Amino acid sequence: MNINCFSAADFGCKIGLWQSIKILSILNRVYPPQMPIMSLFPRSLLVTSALPYANGPIHLGHMVEYIQTDLWVRFQKMRGHRCFYVCADDAHGTPIMLRAQQEGIPPEQLIEQMAQEHQADFADFGVLFDNYYSTHSPENRHYAQLIYGRLRDAGLIATRTIRQAYDPVKEMFLPDRFIKGECPRCGASDQYGDACEACGATYAPTELKNAISTVSGAVPIEKESEHCFFRLPALTDWLRAWASCEHIQPEILNKLNEWFVAGLQEWDITRDDPYFGFEIPDHPGKYFYVWLDAPIGYMASFQNLCDRTAGLSFDEFWGTDSSTELHHFIGKDIAYFHTLFWPAELHAAGFRTPTAVYCHGFLTVNGQKMSKSRGTFIKARTYLEYLDPEYLRYYFAAKLGHGIDDIDLNFDDFMNRVNADLVGKVVNIASRCAGFITKYYSGRLCSTLPEPERYTEAVAVGEVIAAHYEQRALGSAMREIMALADRTNQYIDAKKPWIMAKEAGQEAALQAVCTQGLNLFRVIMVYLKPVLPRTALRVEQFLRDQPLTWESRQTPLLDHGIAPFEPLLTRVDPKRIQAMLHASRTPTETTPPATPVVPSTAPEPIAPTISYEQFAALDLRVARIVAAEAVPEADKLLRLTLDLGGETRTVFAGIKTAYSTTDLIDRLTIVVANLAPRTFRYGVSEGMVLAAGPGGKDLFLLSPDRGAVPGMRIK
Ligand code: 2FM
Ligand code: ZN
Repeated sequence: MNINCFSAADFGCKIGLWQSIKILSILNRVYPPQMPIMSLFPRSLLVTSALPYANGPIHLGHMVEYIQTDLWVRFQKMRGHRCFYVCADDAHGTPIMLRAQQEGIPPEQLIEQMAQEHQADFADFGVLFDNYYSTHSPENRHYAQLIYGRLRDAGLIATRTIRQAYDPVKEMFLPDRFIKGECPRCGASDQYGDACEACGATYAPTELKNAISTVSGAVPIEKESEHCFFRLPALTDWLRAWASCEHIQPEILNKLNEWFVAGLQEWDITRDDPYFGFEIPDHPGKYFYVWLDAPIGYMASFQNLCDRTAGLSFDEFWGTDSSTELHHFIGKDIAYFHTLFWPAELHAAGFRTPTAVYCHGFLTVNGQKMSKSRGTFIKARTYLEYLDPEYLRYYFAAKLGHGIDDIDLNFDDFMNRVNADLVGKVVNIASRCAGFITKYYSGRLCSTLPEPERYTEAVAVGEVIAAHYEQRALGSAMREIMALADRTNQYIDAKKPWIMAKEAGQEAALQAVCTQGLNLFRVIMVYLKPVLPRTALRVEQFLRDQPLTWESRQTPLLDHGIAPFEPLLTRVDPKRIQAMLHASRTPTETTPPATPVVPSTAPEPIAPTISYEQFAALDLRVARIVAAEAVPEADKLLRLTLDLGGETRTVFAGIKTAYSTTDLIDRLTIVVANLAPRTFRYGVSEGMVLAAGPGGKDLFLLSPDRGAVPGMRIK
C-alpha cells in the first residue's frame, strides 16, 4: 500500500501556483499529518458500513453512518477512483432467533423480510451499494470457517469450560441482555444483566439481584459449557504496532491505549445450541458468536460481488500484498470489535488489514437521545413517507466532521438550514438566471464567460472541498460550497440581471451574466452531487449536460442549449415535520402533538398476521377478580387474585393508574391462562388480564357479556 503525504500536484488538476499554495496552507491548517491524504490516482478502494442487524428496522441513527459512507463513496467515484461499497444484513444471533420464534416463522424467513425492508430504505435514501448481501450466506460460512481454522492452526484458539446463566424453562444459555434484575450497586430495578442504566455500574449477570430471564420469566440458573476463545492477548505487540494515526482517529487511539494498559482479554467466540448461526466445524452443537462472522460478512459480500463481476479479484483486495485500500465506517460503540479483534483476526489468518477504521458519533434528536414516546425514534421509512431524503443527506453532511462527536438533529435547525442553504442559496442561483436565458436567448448560453477568473477561482476551490471530503470533514466541505454560493449570489446581486433585462443595449451583457451564473451553479452542483444525487440528476437534465464528475467543472458549458427551468428542490414544509414526529410516537404516548395533523385517536397499527395455529395456542379464560391490592413498590401494578372456575391464580396487572382496588372486586374479566409464569420482585404472575387503551387513566379492562362464568374458555 502506498500512503504519501498530500501534494497539490497529486490531484492532477489544472490550478495555478498561487491556488496550490493557498490550498496547501488551508490543508495543513485543517489536517495535521496524522491521517495522511492518499495520493495514488486512480486508487482502488473497498468501503464498508457496519452491517445492520436483521431484527429491526433502519432508523435515523443508522442513517448517519450510511449517508456519511455513501457521500464519501460517491465522492471517490466522482474523482475517478475505482471504488466498491459493500454491506450486508447481520443475520445471526439470539435476538434474531427469538424474534423469529415470537413471530412463529423460521429465522430464514425473518431475515429475508428484513433484508428486503432494509434494502428498500437504503435505496430510497439514495444509499447506493455495489453489493448488499447477508451474513447468512455460503460465502460467509466459507470465510468464517477458513479464518477460524487458520487461527486454530496458529494456536490462537483456546478451549475451556465456563459457567453461564441458563434459562431452565426455555433450555438455553442467556445473553446478558436477556436477563433483568436489580442492580447490585444501587438497587435500581429492571436492569439488564451487564450494566445498570441508573448508576452506570457494569457487572456479571450472576451479580444481579432477583434476576429473571426475559425470555421465559424463569429464574436463571448457572450451567457449564465448553467454549472456544480467540487468544487476542497473543497479538498485543502486533496490535500496538498497527494501532496508529495512520489507521485510526486520535480519539479512538486514546481509547485503544487505555485498553492496552488494562490488558487485552481472550474473546469468547462460541455460543451454544439453540442459536441461529454457523456451527463450528470441530465443535458440534456450538456456533460462531454473531460478532465472529459479522465483520467477515464484509469479505463475503465482496466475494459475492467478485463472483458476478468480470475482472474483479477477491485477492486483489484482501491479499496481504494488496495495493488497494480497505476503509470501514462504523459507530464509535463498536470500535473495540473493529480496531482490535478484526485487524488481529485478519493479520493472524493471513489477510490484509484495514487501511482505516472511521468512527462517527451517535445521533441525538432535538438534543436528546432518540425516544419512542417523544416521537424522535424515527424509522427511515417514516421519514421517507414525509420528507425528501436529500434534506437529511445535506443536513447530516453539514453536521458531520472527521471526529467522533455526537451529532444533533434539531428540526428547527434542519428546516432553516435546508431552506436557507439549498433552496435560498444554491437553487436560487439557477432560478435567477435560467428564466432570462429561456425567454430572451432560446435557452442558449453564450460562447464566452465574462469573468473567467471568477470561474477559475470556483474550480480551484474544488481542491479544498475535495480535501475536506477526503478527510470526511463534510461540514467543512459544505461550508466552502455555501461560501461559493454566497459569492455567486453576490455577483448576481451586483449585476442585477432583472434591471439589465429592462434596459436597451444590455442584451449581450445579460446573456453573459446569466451564462456566468449558471456555470457557477453547475460547479456548485458538481461539489454537491455526492450529497444530492437526485437533485444533481435533475440539474443534469435541466442543463442538458453529461453526468457531472469532479472533472466536469474544468470545462464550462458555453454556446450550449439548456432546458426550461423547473423547481429543483422545494422548501421544507414544517407541517410535514410535525406529521412525521407524530407518526413516530408509540401508541402508548398520550400527549397530543403541538400541531396535530393526524387525529390523536388514530388507531394503533394492526400487528403482523399470525396463523390460526398461533391464535389457537392461546388459552383465554373468563376469570372473577376475588381480590385486588396495590403493589407498593410499583407505580402501575395491582396484584389480582383470580378465580378461574375452581382454580385460583395470582396475576400482576399494570392497571393501577385506571382502577381503584375496590372497583374491581367481583368483576369478571378475561385472562391469558396459558402464559408462562413470570417472576417479579414481588412474586410470580400466573397469567395476564386483558385491557384496551393507550395507558394511564385510559385503560379499559375487558369483560365478557352477561351469562359468562369463571373458567369458560374464549373461542
Ligand atoms: O452493532 C451492530 O449493529 C452490528 N450488527 C454491526 C456489525 S458490523 C460488522 F462487524 F459486521
Ligand atoms: Zn445501578
